[in-house]
Amino acid sequence: MKKQTNRSSFSGQLGFIMAAAGSAVGLGNIWRFPYLAAKDGGGIFIFCYIILALTFGFSLLTTEVAIGRKTKQSPLTAYGKINRRWKGIGVLACLVPILILPYYCSIGGWVFKYLAIYLTNQGAEAAAEEYFSGYISGTFQPLIYMLIFFGITAVIVYRGVEKGIERYSKILMPILVVMIVGISLFSLTLEHTEPNGTVRTGLEGLKVYLVPNFSEISIKEFFIILMDAMGQLFFSISVAMGIMVAYGSYVRKDTNLMHSINQIEFFDTLIALLAGLMIVPAVFTFMGANGMSTGPGLIFVSLPKVFTAMGSIGNIIGFTFFLIVSFAAVTSSVSVMEAIVSSIMDHFGFSRKKSTVIVSVYTLIIGCVVCLGYNSLFFKLTLPNGTVGQILDVLDYISNNCLMPLVALLTCVLIGWVVKPDVIIEEVTQGKYKFRRKWLYIIMIKFIAPIMLFLLLLQSAGLFNS
Ligand code: PFF
Repeated sequence: MKKQTNRSSFSGQLGFIMAAAGSAVGLGNIWRFPYLAAKDGGGIFIFCYIILALTFGFSLLTTEVAIGRKTKQSPLTAYGKINRRWKGIGVLACLVPILILPYYCSIGGWVFKYLAIYLTNQGAEAAAEEYFSGYISGTFQPLIYMLIFFGITAVIVYRGVEKGIERYSKILMPILVVMIVGISLFSLTLEHTEPNGTVRTGLEGLKVYLVPNFSEISIKEFFIILMDAMGQLFFSISVAMGIMVAYGSYVRKDTNLMHSINQIEFFDTLIALLAGLMIVPAVFTFMGANGMSTGPGLIFVSLPKVFTAMGSIGNIIGFTFFLIVSFAAVTSSVSVMEAIVSSIMDHFGFSRKKSTVIVSVYTLIIGCVVCLGYNSLFFKLTLPNGTVGQILDVLDYISNNCLMPLVALLTCVLIGWVVKPDVIIEEVTQGKYKFRRKWLYIIMIKFIAPIMLFLLLLQSAGLFNS
């Protein structure tokens, strides 16, 4: 293992916050959060999510950023520096972005395709039945759009930490916030009359999204909502996949870690809430309470129908929406790629250029395999959690449902029991900054988080399937 000298760093606190928020705010915030919130009784899910973000999410994020800054290493080598015997966590943590990057780029390609559709005023076509499934099972177009999406990601990573990741995040994230606030407000003003005379409004949709529905909630249902909220939080703040360790390693010692972490979490939660405000009332107004579908179906199938139903303004709204999703997806895929590139740089001592080329060749090959998973390589596989999927879903299941909770669980054991939480507390309080929720952190990392993560793993294994 060669030692890296002159490690790059973010220019300051703002640069770090923007880059980390850019990583956290991604497809997860835009299609996963609104869908789950609508499915899980609105306000109850949001309430659980916020409580978990302030406790569980805060503990995991703090741990990873502090490990990165303390060791000044990327995930592959950082865990071994904390404790030599536990360096295997680094290998697992690095495997997660390796599995995720190719399929995140395939989805990024779908987003770019829809951006092009609305740019060229073809929204009505995209709203047609079976358009999306027809598109993804095509041969060349999905490959080309994936290539464009990945090309942009690779150029940003190649340009480095300050001139690439930080600079683009600082430009894209504020624009994203302005656009998302604009569309959420617009969404609340919508009104639609069905042919049978039923009128639905955006404000009624807001009620579906926010007002808790406690009436029929059983303990089992509450448990499912809690697990959904935890799975979502985990996905959303980009932990357990090496990213926050890599970004933490670029944070200067004079940066106030606690303050930055609070801001990253605030940003991520705010964007998720706003994404819900933007999507749920619009879908409710035009498609009714049952219009929310899961995953890709929501943004690529339901929303194009909503944009078409809006009439002439629908094309502009559709374009703005897919621009928001594009910005969110690019800054996230940049962070997923950086976790791998920085690991290669630290472990093998390769230059950024060489490491970026290696990761690019790998991603393009596997990315093509993922795209062809809907075409010549099509198969149907039933996963242990009961869902049926293709190559993309299999990669997603292994990384998100199995490896990520496992990496987080092992990290909790390492920090809570093997090296003790003081290692993290010392790093956070460097420069005499305060660690305000110190006791909460210790209890979370030693007891509560490992138990919750264990339950999440059992859920992934299909143990709570009804
Ligand atoms: N946190 C980002 C998102 O919410 O989309 C990035 C990300 C998380 C990418 C998890 C991929 C992933 F599996």
